[in-house]
Amino acid sequence: MPAYLRKEVIGNATLYLGDALTVMAGIEPLKAAALIGDPPYCSGGFSEAAKRQAKGQGLRSETLREIEWFGGDNMTTAGLQWLLRGVAVLFKQHADSQGATVTLFCDWRMIAMLAPAIESAGLRWQAMPVWDKQALGLGTGFRAQHECMLHFAIATPEYHSARFGNVIRSPRASATTREHPTEKPLQLMRSLVEVQTAPGELILDPFMGGGSTGVAALDLDRRFVGIEHDPVHFETACRRIEEASRQSRLLLGEGAEAA
Ligand SMILES: C[S@@+](CC[C@H](N)C(=O)[O-])C[C@H]1O[C@@H](n2cnc3c(N)ncnc32)[C@H](O)[C@@H]1O
Repeated sequence: MPAYLRKEVIGNATLYLGDALTVMAGIEPLKAAALIGDPPYCSGGFSEAAKRQAKGQGLRSETLREIEWFGGDNMTTAGLQWLLRGVAVLFKQHADSQGATVTLFCDWRMIAMLAPAIESAGLRWQAMPVWDKQALGLGTGFRAQHECMLHFAIATPEYHSARFGNVIRSPRASATTREHPTEKPLQLMRSLVEVQTAPGELILDPFMGGGSTGVAALDLDRRFVGIEHDPVHFETACRRIEEASRQSRLLLGEGAEAA
């Protein structure tokens, strides 16, 4: 049985429709310089019981579609720990060197549970970069303005930019134009790409969603492999990455003419 349901090669990007672990276990080693991923946060309840009661893994795909959400966001904490540990274990087979790095977005409530799960794959915890959204979230009290990332390396990390601190400022993706319910802004994703990879290197995103990591990668002349298990979000990613690839070809073409 193939490890994926569909594979699309678009310029310097290869996109797989399928489950992150199954695809990563079933494809040839990628030789990736970095994994940049935005997995489900699974933080929708104050307790494990509340999480299960609120939505439960059993939500049917039609219901998810109705509320424009994605599958996998209501796993228990243990489920997410297994998933991310598995991704980290498999990434070691796909890394191009011991300097390869892993950055995974996560909700602040889950840091204490997820960091040890990833560390248990043999990775070294390097930092906890923060995305400052430059705007306050809903509610009162200490209104949420940031999201966290867990940043790991296989051994000593190889970095390619000194332009950024561990607080990266970028406005959110616009609610009117975004194409995925939790779309990450390209400005933020380009910062992560620039720090962790050099032009021509390959980035893997096993939770691709609408493909923001891929668009940022192609914008900066990197190669990209993305995995997404939801066919609708996969289509969105294909479309956005096709457009990014077209734009980068145009830029290259214009450069060649001018030379
Ligand atoms: C937080 S979203 C990513 C959004 C993305 N960063 C963007 O800007 O569009 C997480 C995505 O991971 C996908 N996902 C969840 N579990 C998965 C799995 N086991 N394998 C592959 N994709 C998965 C979901 O369908 C969802 O689209």
